[in-house]
Amino acid sequence: MSFTIRPYQPRDLRALYTICLQTGDSGADATAHFRDPDLLGHYFAAPYGVLMPETSFVLADGHDEACGYILGARDTAEFAARCEREWFPELRARYPLPPPDDHSPDARMIRAIHAGIVVDEVAREYPAHLHIDILPVAQKQGWGRRLMETFLNRLRELGAPAVHLGVGARNLNAIAFYERMGFHRIRGDEHAIMYGMRL
Ligand SMILES: CC(C)(COP(=O)(O)OP(=O)(O)OC[C@H]1O[C@@H](n2cnc3c(N)ncnc32)[C@H](O)[C@@H]1OP(=O)(O)O)[C@@H](O)C(=O)NCCC(=O)NCCS
Repeated sequence: MSFTIRPYQPRDLRALYTICLQTGDSGADATAHFRDPDLLGHYFAAPYGVLMPETSFVLADGHDEACGYILGARDTAEFAARCEREWFPELRARYPLPPPDDHSPDARMIRAIHAGIVVDEVAREYPAHLHIDILPVAQKQGWGRRLMETFLNRLRELGAPAVHLGVGARNLNAIAFYERMGFHRIRGDEHAIMYGMRL
C-alpha cells in the first residue's frame, strides 16, 4: 500500500479517534478496555486537529484515509488555555465526574478531561509537545521518521525552541523510536518517561 503525509483536514476527525484508541494501550489496541471508545481521543487526539491544525499532520493510505498522525502544539501552555476555553467545557457537561471508587479506564479519562491539559514544568524549557500514533498497517516502514521530520520542521518554522513528549515506560517500541529520532531523556520513573529535543 502507498502512503502520503498531508496536513490534517476536518474530515480526518473520526480517524483521529480510531487511531488513538487502536494504539492507546502502550502502542497496542485499547478498544477492549473502554466502554466509551471516544474517551482517549477526546483528550489525546481530537483537540489538536480541531484547535491546532497548523501542527497536525496525518499519514494517509491509498484511499486518502488517515492511518496515522502526528499531533502537537507549538506552545503547550497556550494549547492548555485554548482547550479550557474551547474544548473541555462541552465534554465536562457531557461526562460528569465519576464516583471516587470508580477506577475504570473510562473513569480515569473522564477525570483527565475534568483536570484539563497538564502543563508539565518541562514546558518552560521545552514549550512544544507532540503525540504520534500509526496503525500497524503502516508501522516500521519509515513513516514514523517522516512524520516526525515533517512535524519538527513545522515547529522550527513556527519558531519553537524545543519540544517534549511523554511515553509510558512499558512502551518499549516507542522508547526505542524516540531515542533513535534523537530525543533525550529528561526524567523518568517506573510509569512514564519524559523526552525532550532542542530545535
Ligand atoms: C512508535 C511509532 C510511532 C514508530 O513509527 P514507525 O513508523 O513504526 O517507525 P519507523 O519505521 O519510522 O522507524 C524510525 C526509526 O526508529 C527505529 N525504530 C522504530 N521502532 C523501533 C524499535 N521497536 N526498536 C528499535 N528501533 C526502532 C527504526 O529502526 C528506524 O531507524 P532508522 O530510521 O534509523 O532506520 C509507531 O510504531 C507507532 O505508532 N506505534 C504505536 C503507537 C505508539 O506507541 N505511539 C507512541 C505513543 S507515546
